[in-house]
Amino acid sequence: MKGNFPIDKFKGVRTPFYYYDSELLRNTLAAIKEEIGKHEHYHLHYAVKANANPKILKIIKEAGFGADCVSGGEIQACLDAGFPADEIVYAGVGKSDWEINLGLDAEIAYFNVESIAELEVINELAAAKGKTARVSFRINPNVGAHTHANITTGLAENKFGIAMEDMERVIQIAAGLEHVAFVGLHFHIGSQILEMEDFSTLCGRINQLQEKLEAQGIEVKNINVGGGLGIDYQHPVDHPIPDFKDYFDTYSQHLNLRPGQHLHFELGRAVVGQCGNLITRVLYVKQATTKQFAILDAGMTDLIRPALYQAYHEIENLSSDEELAVYDVVGPICESSDVFAKGYKLNRCHRGDLIVLRSAGAYGEIMASKYNCRELPVGYVTEDFAS
Ligand code: LLP
Repeated sequence: MKGNFPIDKFKGVRTPFYYYDSELLRNTLAAIKEEIGKHEHYHLHYAVKANANPKILKIIKEAGFGADCVSGGEIQACLDAGFPADEIVYAGVGKSDWEINLGLDAEIAYFNVESIAELEVINELAAAKGKTARVSFRINPNVGAHTHANITTGLAENKFGIAMEDMERVIQIAAGLEHVAFVGLHFHIGSQILEMEDFSTLCGRINQLQEKLEAQGIEVKNINVGGGLGIDYQHPVDHPIPDFKDYFDTYSQHLNLRPGQHLHFELGRAVVGQCGNLITRVLYVKQATTKQFAILDAGMTDLIRPALYQAYHEIENLSSDEELAVYDVVGPICESSDVFAKGYKLNRCHRGDLIVLRSAGAYGEIMASKYNCRELPVGYVTEDFAS
């Protein structure tokens, strides 16, 4: 063992691969359960987009949470993992007909609708089946979040949601359609948010909207505030479990829920981020003119976050206790952006050393690609190395 890693058991296992600490995942789920359980009518639908590995889905399903999906493929993965259909919600700006039909056939909890055009198509498809689709409207609250520009979603300039000023009109249109039933409002302002003020700003905006709707006698059953709670990428070992108390308390302090109203959350990263690790080996150490490269067998095809968002992942050499040396840690892909970190201190590296990139459980394996005709990385959980 080094850290939490059964490195002896990793011998002979083809790298790169994802290693999920299932105990940490279960502890994280238990922490969520404890905190969310303190608030009446709070409910989590895990954001499957963060990680849809069937072993991970199974553990989350066993913990009793629902699922937030953004495609037919995700809905199917959740049904296969045993999530009850009425615990599945479905969002996305561009739902295809087959995906809507899948949701209708399975009788999912509700569709998070993002435009009038989509609402009309859902109504038509539901009519053809003699069904009524439950719909919730994704409202763009025009709230900025302190996070990377590529992962902020709640600004008017983003493609997501229905503008606040159009909200009442859309609800009126829905009321005139026979095969849709309005059940709630949906919001999501971005991801990797660490400042609770961003969430309290969202609460303020929702409070205003609710008052407006109430004045018109419009009842909202569910408020869905999306996900977005960040994790500590800088100190994953010291902070393996996010501060869920602070997060849920922020909502309970700032959001005025009406009696009987339900509050839905769609956390992804905060659930699975810290339990996942990308395990890779050093292929070569290359001394260049001005710097030294540690060339790994994992690349941006296995973990694209550093290349795409300049994201930081802590890196550690699991095979060496030698003195620290400075490396640019890179992958084998034919792209200059295939860099995990520049000027990074690692225990001196040698060919074959096992390296871990931490905090890779969210948006890691699921965003892997086959670019350069590479194989997709396999995902293992602790139990896979038990014997
Ligand atoms: N709900 C909606 C409507 C979303 O768009 C998202 C994430 C979530 C929930 C879950 O957000 P979370 O709790 O995980 O922050 N690939 C990027 C993150 C993209 C997030 C997209 N939407 C990354 O690697 O940082």
